[in-house]
Amino acid sequence: MSIGELSLHAPLERRTAPWGRRASDHGWPTGGSALGCRIVELPRVTDARGNLTFIEGSEHVPFDIARVYYLYDVPGGEFRGGHAHRQLEQLIIAAAGSFDVVVSDGVTTERFFLNRSYYGLYVPRMVWRELEDFSSGSVCLVLASQRYDEDDYYRDHDEFVAARAAGELR
Ligand code: TYD
Repeated sequence: MSIGELSLHAPLERRTAPWGRRASDHGWPTGGSALGCRIVELPRVTDARGNLTFIEGSEHVPFDIARVYYLYDVPGGEFRGGHAHRQLEQLIIAAAGSFDVVVSDGVTTERFFLNRSYYGLYVPRMVWRELEDFSSGSVCLVLASQRYDEDDYYRDHDEFVAARAAGELR
């Protein structure tokens, strides 16, 4: 079963508050949602010619940025993700359009709706994620703390849940 089917429809206020602030405030406090995910509000330079948002590693995200990738041309109804990472941390941004990020530790499931290019969802290590309900033309921009390493992935959900249950979070 997709974890999306187990979704927790948090009200909008729960998705954005109290985490809707600069991630650099006060030394990257742990916390955020029950899974450690949090919405990070990114700087915005508004301009009649078009707005601008910038992101600096360890300033607006709690890690040095080692890699950037993006998902685009996602057909309607498709899912992405479906894995967790042993060490990798990410910031996920709807650079265009919208989509949902469903995160889970195998027990608790949370759903974040992203539809603004000046908000990012910070996802810590050892959190299963699925991305779904992509709007037409959406672009999912991901900033990652490490370069690509297939060995860092849990792609088997049962294996991931067993690892979490065994306390492999630390
Ligand atoms: P995957 O991480 O499973 O994509 P998503 O989580 O967005 O659904 O990666 C899909 C494929 O792309 C997989 O074969 C590995 C490859 N890939 C890279 O080579 N480098 C990368 O940085 C990423 C993210 C994926």
